[in-house]
Amino acid sequence: MESQKSPSHSQFVIAPSILSADFACLGKEVQDVLAAGADWIHFDVMDNHYVPNLTIGPLVCEAIRPHALKDGKPAMIDVHLMIEPVDRIVPDFAKAGANIISFHPEASPHVNRTLNLIRDQGCQAGLVLNPATPLDHLDHTLELLDLVLLMSVNPGFGGQSFIPSTLNKIALVRARLDQYQAETGRHIRLEVDGGIKVDNIAQVAKAGADTFVAGSAIFGKDNYASVIESMHTELGKLSKA
Ligand code: DX5
Ligand code: ZN
Repeated sequence: MESQKSPSHSQFVIAPSILSADFACLGKEVQDVLAAGADWIHFDVMDNHYVPNLTIGPLVCEAIRPHALKDGKPAMIDVHLMIEPVDRIVPDFAKAGANIISFHPEASPHVNRTLNLIRDQGCQAGLVLNPATPLDHLDHTLELLDLVLLMSVNPGFGGQSFIPSTLNKIALVRARLDQYQAETGRHIRLEVDGGIKVDNIAQVAKAGADTFVAGSAIFGKDNYASVIESMHTELGKLSKA
């Protein structure tokens, strides 16, 4: 039987953030990165209100949906909403083919209602915690969560440096999710977003993350497959250690 403690190699998910992709040929970028070994597509939505940057919305999600295929089957589109308010746009993303929708609790006045809305729309639901956002937000929400997304940079831009104090926070959430799984049998993913590279992914996994967003580390390089393979090699060393 698989241990409930630290995630095993086969459970690791690499989710490239298309924020750093070439927007002039996004469909091909999505195809290429999945063919290069990526598992999910991370889709960063910014509104120039909750965060000081403006990116993409449901129309672009719908446009990439047919290109997001892995071995001929639909790959997960992991939508990270950095927007305020949240609820109005959730059904639009569900219709556009999002599989997971995560939002920041500061951006919704009724977190429980938003989580239920996401689930009612047939998507998995996630909460995103910024570097200075306390873990208290998990106190009354775990039963509605499929994913906890810890920010390891302040949201708004790709290409920032990993904030080292996130490692401690990851370990705290990992302990909490392991305890929840032992009590309920339900697995909640622990995703980390911001500044993840080949040279720190193992440390992030060791702290307890199982899902890794990487934007500039992958799309900033010519050979996506070689970066993703190096990431898996680093993760593989960890499961042998
Ligand atoms: C930041 C976004 C991240 C970011 C990751 O607000 O949520 O997904 O694009 O990019 P890198 O990996 O370059 O830090
Ligand atoms: Zn993100």
